[in-house]
Amino acid sequence: MMWLLFSCLLACTGKLVSGSCPLLEMSPPRVVVRFGDSLSANCTSSSHQTEGMGWESPYGGVDLTPGVSSLPFKMNSVPDWVIEPMCYVNLLDGEQCVKTLPVTVYKMPDSVSLKHFNSMVEGQQYSIQCDIVNVAPARNLYVLWHKGNKVLLSQNFDESRPSPVNKSSVFNVTAHRDNDGTEIWCEAKLNLWPEKQGPPMMSSEPHKVTVLYPPTFFEPANKTLEFSRGKNMTLNCTARGNPLPSYRWQFPNFTKVWLKSQDENRPILSRPFELPGVYTCTASNSQATVTKYFTVSEAPRDRTTFGVIVGVCVTLGVLLFIAGVYFVTPNGTFSCNKGGYQRGTPSGPV
Ligand SMILES: *[C@@H]1O[C@H](CO)[C@@H](O)[C@H](O)[C@H]1NC(C)=O
Ligand SMILES: *[C@@H]1O[C@H](CO)[C@@H](O)[C@H](O)[C@H]1NC(C)=O
Ligand SMILES: *[C@@H]1O[C@H](CO)[C@@H](O)[C@H](O)[C@H]1NC(C)=O
Repeated sequence: MMWLLFSCLLACTGKLVSGSCPLLEMSPPRVVVRFGDSLSANCTSSSHQTEGMGWESPYGGVDLTPGVSSLPFKMNSVPDWVIEPMCYVNLLDGEQCVKTLPVTVYKMPDSVSLKHFNSMVEGQQYSIQCDIVNVAPARNLYVLWHKGNKVLLSQNFDESRPSPVNKSSVFNVTAHRDNDGTEIWCEAKLNLWPEKQGPPMMSSEPHKVTVLYPPTFFEPANKTLEFSRGKNMTLNCTARGNPLPSYRWQFPNFTKVWLKSQDENRPILSRPFELPGVYTCTASNSQATVTKYFTVSEAPRDRTTFGVIVGVCVTLGVLLFIAGVYFVTPNGTFSCNKGGYQRGTPSGPV
């Protein structure tokens, strides 16, 4: 109210040329100041033919000062969220030229924090919220969402209030196992300075994401395997899941249902092969139970043994054949068993 009155007074007493007086130069041209900090600026007139210069501000100005072409302005502690100090110069012809010093009063957030779920279930949608408390001016606020070393999203706000406000940014995510264990956090930045200047960003605590998902076998297909009796049999049922899956093995002979031993909670079953049949493994956690079947049969006999047996038979056969030829020859027929056959059936066909 007082400010309006003052502006009017200023406008009505002199002939206001414009809000941006070409004769006046501000140094610095604009000010960004933290609430409560000190502020100083210089106003310089390019014309010396003046009655004097002054500063007007609702929080104390500088009286009309004759015979200067430059006039400093200082506030020890910026007390408000909107301050518009004006530098004026009174020209000899009675006109007044006025320029406003643009001032942005800021306040870094009191806190930046995440509201999140302790754990997410794969496939479901979640909203993670970043709360920024007591920040000004919110129209210059940027919120960056980080996941690992990637920036996922940045958000700014449509907010005209210059005084501190609370703002929230919401990040919607569909939980996926690949996100399990990654860190998410948000960062609040006031976009008031050229790069790398101004106060550093304020970050929330990182949140380590937990995504619950059902067990999934590394090798999902059922298996058909062959082992030799007495040799080591290894069945791999390893699955990935959160929480970590627990395992149960069921053996082909139903007398040994749910093997009760230290083996039972192991993803890999390793033991001498005894029983052919279907071995069933289940991997389960809070999200699901999945089953994999191993059809195990006995391998055909060892090849070398088989080979030896075949070799012995063949050798015996050859020996017998040679012996047969040897015994047949003296009878005058030079073909082997065929000749013998012919001899026995002289009246047959051919
Ligand atoms: C204003 O000008 C004076 C003298 O020229 C100088 O000492 C001072 O640092 C200047 N202040 C600003 C804020 O530019
Ligand atoms: C912002 O949040 C804080 C704490 O949550 C609260 O004390 C304060 O009143 C809020 N400010 C506004 C402007 O809503
Ligand atoms: C494994 O076998 C079971 C029972 O025969 C069947 O229901 C299941 O679909 C099979 N799984 C795969 C991945 O082939």
